[in-house]
Amino acid sequence: MSAETGPDSFVIHSGMELVYANPAFCTLLGAQSQEQLIGSSLTDLVAADCRTTLSEHVARIEDEDAPALGLTVEFQTFTNQSQRAIVVSSLVEWDGTERVQTSVFPIAGKGAESRRLLNDRAVDDAPIGITISDPSQSDNPLIHVNDGFCDLTGYPRDEILGQNCRFLQGEATREEPVAQMRAAIDAEEPVTVELRNYRKDGTMFWNRVTITPIRDESGTVTNWLGYQQDITAEKRYEHDLSLFKQQAEGANKAILITDAEGTIEYVNPAFEELTGYSAAEAVGQTSSILKSGQQDEEFYAELWEQITAGEVWEAELTNQTKQGELFEVEQKIIPVADAYGEITHFVAIEQDVTENVLTTQTLDVLNRVLRHNLRNSLNAIDGHAELLEDEELDPEARQASVAAIRNQTASLKKIAEKTAEIRSVWDPTDPHRAWDRLDIRSLVETYQRQYPDANITCPAEENASIDVQNTELFEIALDEAVTNAIEHADQSPAEVTITIQREPDASQLRIRVADNGPGIPELERQTIESGEETPLSHSLGIDLWVMKWITTSLGGELTIEDNEPRGSIVTFHLPVGPERDARPSY
Ligand SMILES: Cc1cc2nc3c(=O)[nH]c(=O)nc-3n(C[C@H](O)[C@H](O)[C@H](O)COP(=O)(O)O)c2cc1C
Repeated sequence: MSAETGPDSFVIHSGMELVYANPAFCTLLGAQSQEQLIGSSLTDLVAADCRTTLSEHVARIEDEDAPALGLTVEFQTFTNQSQRAIVVSSLVEWDGTERVQTSVFPIAGKGAESRRLLNDRAVDDAPIGITISDPSQSDNPLIHVNDGFCDLTGYPRDEILGQNCRFLQGEATREEPVAQMRAAIDAEEPVTVELRNYRKDGTMFWNRVTITPIRDESGTVTNWLGYQQDITAEKRYEHDLSLFKQQAEGANKAILITDAEGTIEYVNPAFEELTGYSAAEAVGQTSSILKSGQQDEEFYAELWEQITAGEVWEAELTNQTKQGELFEVEQKIIPVADAYGEITHFVAIEQDVTENVLTTQTLDVLNRVLRHNLRNSLNAIDGHAELLEDEELDPEARQASVAAIRNQTASLKKIAEKTAEIRSVWDPTDPHRAWDRLDIRSLVETYQRQYPDANITCPAEENASIDVQNTELFEIALDEAVTNAIEHADQSPAEVTITIQREPDASQLRIRVADNGPGIPELERQTIESGEETPLSHSLGIDLWVMKWITTSLGGELTIEDNEPRGSIVTFHLPVGPERDARPSY
């Protein structure tokens, strides 16, 4: 083939209507100016017998039926001549809109022998290879290759024109895609395959080849158009991703992979265990299934802003399991870009730190209790012991000191006992622990017997059975709430009402303990809500902390609010247990 290097020649169109014609195309058609062509129809520029096939060809491109199509047509120039050309169309983005680009390769005459591609440069800037072969010649040799193809394969043009394109195949080329191309050529149908090819220097690359027949107006295949795209990086990326998934299978951290929109494509077994969602349930949903409502919209907006900008995002947040259980995670989201720098996936790695949070709080509180309460109690005991050493101390004062010492030791004993009690039933890390049923009404009866002067109720119409993952642990928390309400009561009788709130489809169940006492001081509430001890809050008792630890370790949340007309309401928000007859499978 002798290519006369002429200027590029192409048009951009929407349907058949031209939105752009480059100067080379204007020259080819003998148009006065670009304006003369813009707005006109491509159909009007070709011979009548080519119009239907050209329209069908463009429609197929717009329907994304094929990535690229070629066709031989007869153009009618403004100087009343006819110009045969091979047109190659594909979708492009033009001014931000999807359009069809049709490159025009003028050919002289009808016969294969005399067919010459005049314009070689129109496609030379394309990042992909474009080849045209001539099936009327023996072994369907290449008669045109663009610079993209030469760059891609490393072969100079003169070495390959006149040869069948199979010279790119080699040792590791699989037979199946080759056979597919052979069959498509026999059937005169387009096909796209992905196969290993080799450059002139022997290096392998993954080639996505589309071959498509080019027909003239009578439907006869005059040429074959080939599109070659180097997809090595894409393949490596796919391979890396599948390797990553293989490794993720065995990881002990929960891993999920979403597409660029946040739709889950993959979760590992550790994710299934942590969240209660099986892979089948999670895939296809968005990662918002884990949303606990503990973070505000602004938090998520910042997250998305950062990850869509390609930055790794790291934070500690509260998520929710399928059963409605809250858990703290240290989460890292890593944007994954493809070979072209476009973000295609996000990989999220979640480390459950629920236990860490609890441990930190426990240590803080124990530290305070030990340092403050112990020191105070011991100082008091010391002081009174000193007084008792004075043999001249009068009996009344002696008795008072003994009582004070007893008081202090009783309070120390209470802390020791409480800690031991919690320790014996507390296993917050065991997700496999069976769910048990707890009957709140029978507990209420026990409390009533324990505190006959108080009025402890649970509304009669209420279904008082709840499912809790560690009933002994929750009983301690509920005991604390009731005992505190009664011991701090300043009204007679002390009123304590326990209600259970279930909302249909809600992921949490609420157990409210309402009293008519003096209310819980604001400072204590704030300390509990913030979850951190502050130097100011050292007077805070251990009871509220016990309730808070227990609720958190059960995957729930503790809130405190005012009761009307007086008193406070302590609410345990707990995860809803699995259906009785459908125990969790995780
Ligand atoms: C226009 C055109 C371009 C082609 N491009 C490639 C290519 O890039 N890589 C490749 O391995 N085969 C390519 N082929 C396929 C081979 O030329 C050949 O058709 C295939 O190996 C099957 O035929 P065979 O069994 O005779 O080898 C192309 C074919 C045509 C018609």
